[in-house]
Amino acid sequence: MQGSYYINPAIKLNLEGVEMSNYENLYSTCARGMRSSEIRRIMKLAADPSLISFAGGAPGMSLLPVEIVDELYGGLSTQAKQIALQYGATDGYTPLIGELKKYLATKNIATDGQELIVTTGAQQAINIIAKIFLNPGDAVVTENPSFIGALAAFKSYEADTVGVPMDDEGIIIPKLLETLDRLGSKAKILYLTPYFHNPAGIIYSASRKRQLLDALKGKKIVVIEDDPYGELYFDDADKELTIPMKAMPHEGVTICYVGSFAKILSPGMRLGWLYADAELIDKCQLAKQSMDACSPVIAQMLAYEFLSKGKLPIYLETLRPAYKRRASTMLDALKEHMPKDVNWTIPKGGFYVWITLPEYMNASDVFQKSCENGAAFVIGSAFDPAGIKNNCMRLAFSSTPEEKITKGIEIIADAVKSFIK
Ligand SMILES: Cc1ncc(COP(=O)(O)O)c(C=O)c1O
Repeated sequence: MQGSYYINPAIKLNLEGVEMSNYENLYSTCARGMRSSEIRRIMKLAADPSLISFAGGAPGMSLLPVEIVDELYGGLSTQAKQIALQYGATDGYTPLIGELKKYLATKNIATDGQELIVTTGAQQAINIIAKIFLNPGDAVVTENPSFIGALAAFKSYEADTVGVPMDDEGIIIPKLLETLDRLGSKAKILYLTPYFHNPAGIIYSASRKRQLLDALKGKKIVVIEDDPYGELYFDDADKELTIPMKAMPHEGVTICYVGSFAKILSPGMRLGWLYADAELIDKCQLAKQSMDACSPVIAQMLAYEFLSKGKLPIYLETLRPAYKRRASTMLDALKEHMPKDVNWTIPKGGFYVWITLPEYMNASDVFQKSCENGAAFVIGSAFDPAGIKNNCMRLAFSSTPEEKITKGIEIIADAVKSFIK
């Protein structure tokens, strides 16, 4: 697509470009708050298949485990298939819960008084925690930038999302404490993605995690430790950095640990999990019942087979080098083509590189130009809890075929150069 935007014809915009609706007086206040024409327009555009896209935070198509899933499904008995096609328990398929607990034990995650619920993606786990804790006007403190799906979930309960800056070791603790003091009892949740951050690409240092747990001790706030990417380290030497805070001594800190099969098996299977205090999990089950009754049993059964047959470690051994290669191709291209005054993070794993443009530059302008020339990414303001800061952009290297990465970066770098003052 060259230059023109696709806009859903069902969405009407007024002269200021704000969406208008026939249902305005019927919508709940939270639904009225759900509009972001700029980001929606951009996401639609970025989905254009003719673009070289670094926009989606998805696994590479060719890396999805089609043969493994074929084999696992083919190996099920008729009776197992019948169970797979039936409704299931709200907390999850019991054998999968057992396997997940074993898997968490390999990460040394403490089990005392903790319980696990299978969720429909990590997205639902975050949404459930938001549902059980947030009233309109409550605050959720997040890193800035932060995962767009979590921000949307918190906002759907009419919470304020308040960002705290990060450096390359994690959230900046004095700034976090200042924010918590200022918000007082309004702050209910602290949402963190410490491992191969989406979108910032960084991983927390061991000392920052320790300092953070010490600083949070005794604070009346629920920490969501969201960890969908931890397994995707590029080098074994960095594995140690992926030890979750939930696995470290954390007395006096409530941690809801969230995981996902999306990046280590399949996002289309829509499976995640939440591991937390048993009392909380009980409440979460009630909340989940009103959302979807149960997560897809067929997907849970396949995930169970995948874990119990020892397929996960083997599959991860194929993913890590593949993503490492894509990341390094992207980093080489950035080094070669980006003008000076543009900075980026060097990921040790995960899916993302976070680019910081000069202060005066607007990523939306760069986006438009770059799409006209054939490459897409996501603009920074999508990840700002306040929706403002826009001299940044997220480039996902995960789903772009390796041979297209260099060309795509060249296009984006040219667009950036055209705005350099
Ligand atoms: C940090 C983070 N948390 C949660 C999710 C949602 O994961 P799922 O697909 O399991 O809902 C994503 C997906 O990109 C993510 O990046």
